[in-house]
Amino acid sequence: MDLDRNWSLHCFDCGSEMKSEPPTFLCPKCGGTLELSLRRGFLNRRTLFSRSGSPGIWRHKLALPPVNGLPVSLGEGSTPLLRSTGALSRSNRYEVYVKVEGQNPTGSFKDRGMTVAITRAKQRRAESLICASTGNTSASLAAYAAKAGMRAVVVIPSGKVASGKLVQAVAYGAKIVRVKGNFDKALESTIDAVSKDKSLYLMNSLNPFRIEGQKTAAYEIYEQLGHRVPDAVVMPVGNAGNISALWKGFEEMRVWGITRTSPRMIGVQAAGAAPIYAAYLKGAQGIEPVEAPETIASAIRIGRPVSWKKALRAMKDSGGACLSVTDKEIISARSALSSSEGIFVEAASAAPVAALGRLPESLRKGSKVVCVATGNGLKDQESVRVALDEVPLVDGDSDLHKSISSA
Ligand code: F0G
Repeated sequence: MDLDRNWSLHCFDCGSEMKSEPPTFLCPKCGGTLELSLRRGFLNRRTLFSRSGSPGIWRHKLALPPVNGLPVSLGEGSTPLLRSTGALSRSNRYEVYVKVEGQNPTGSFKDRGMTVAITRAKQRRAESLICASTGNTSASLAAYAAKAGMRAVVVIPSGKVASGKLVQAVAYGAKIVRVKGNFDKALESTIDAVSKDKSLYLMNSLNPFRIEGQKTAAYEIYEQLGHRVPDAVVMPVGNAGNISALWKGFEEMRVWGITRTSPRMIGVQAAGAAPIYAAYLKGAQGIEPVEAPETIASAIRIGRPVSWKKALRAMKDSGGACLSVTDKEIISARSALSSSEGIFVEAASAAPVAALGRLPESLRKGSKVVCVATGNGLKDQESVRVALDEVPLVDGDSDLHKSISSA
């Protein structure tokens, strides 16, 4: 590896060490997913949280892969952690917090990983960047490629991508390719393309540099809670990269001796796209793909998640759980978040809130529970727009007064 000697790249499944990055980011020996590791004992509380350098995720640059020069950044990270004061805290037994990842530059957590991966791609002089996406990764890649002056190709499933995300990819000037079929098909075609065309550099979360950036949300949560580890972190799970990333961040702090514990990681899948949930229930060692995943939460409409093994490990090793929620529960949680907490999220991001009533019983009253609100509601307006049609049109002042007082 051309990283410094504090870093290694190895297979998460068979442990093989890589000398260089395989183009597909899959282990050439066993096909497993890869992981970057920073050697033990390298960081302490002071060095991890030093305020030198850029704000946001690059504050933690000593925990991130080394960079020659400046990173390609749009100011990602440092998102708010808000304590629930509305319906969420009244309707359940926990001290609930929401990590508002929709406040990242392109409106989702993807930006944390994208800044690290594109910085790496630039360093490697990659020609074209490519990803398959349910929408947010493509919006993020398109923006960072524009900033870096690099070419981006985004491969999206035909239909079912929220229009706000597509609009972003168009605006940032990415080349958009639509494939027949769902996200799983789009990712399969993308991996195939990358394995055949050396000029393409893969930017999906199989790329472990993405995971390194995304793990910084764990550092922020710990710091924002006044240097305390939450009891549980609840997250939506699609391709399963993000839950693996936050678990990695919390575990690093524990292994480095900064913290003594890690939170329980609770993954939430949409009922119509829940292969990891099914495997978790059965205690199975592998997943059975869902061939035709279906859910209103289009961001996590995924039937064959690539990082399922890492996610299952995170949930099991942390004493967490995997849960599933229906579309109806997701819609009502989304509405509760916006109307009683002032946080407007896209459908997938409401899944953790929908699961709050179902967390493991062993989680005590008053536990600190962080729901990760992964994406901004403005991207995915279709399901809320319906309510707009019901807004009456008033004609004249007296109608206006009547209308106001009847509200
Ligand atoms: N929430 C949102 C808003 C997402 O866009 C995604 C994934 C997830 C949760 C799930 O994260 O895949 O790491 O488990 N979106 C990807 C995309 C698949 O293409 O934008 P995950």
